[in-house]
Amino acid sequence: MESLVTLLITCFSVLSVQLTSRITEAQQCQASVDGISLSGHVMSTVVVDDIGSCSDKCAVTPGCQSINFYMKSSLCELNNKTVENTPSHKVQNNRAVYFKNPDPLPPEPVRRGILLGSGSRGE
Ligand SMILES: *[C@@H]1O[C@H](CO)[C@@H](O)[C@H](O)[C@H]1NC(C)=O
Repeated sequence: MESLVTLLITCFSVLSVQLTSRITEAQQCQASVDGISLSGHVMSTVVVDDIGSCSDKCAVTPGCQSINFYMKSSLCELNNKTVENTPSHKVQNNRAVYFKNPDPLPPEPVRRGILLGSGSRGE
């Protein structure tokens, strides 16, 4: 009897993990929009295998807030803005998929040449 309860609990937790990952997938799908792109805020362009690699690239790039992905050329553009904060730069583009980075890293601090890392403060 006890082992049956354990089995049921195990089944339930496996099931709930699967449910949770499906919800996450659904949320990620919602974040991407077919047929638009964001112009004028491209920080860098890379060629990748698929949109997953493109969003991974964005996730690890400081200041990357969204991506434009072009299916045909596998071109991945990293944007330092989103359509939400610059709606006037939204462009209709049938070949593009726009994807907002749900968890952007803060932009890299501006490097000030020799002031950074010199350790000297004029003393
Ligand atoms: C965003 O990228 C554009 C295009 O490369 C650049 O001109 C602009 O200065 C960048 N803006 C910020 C806030 O980094």
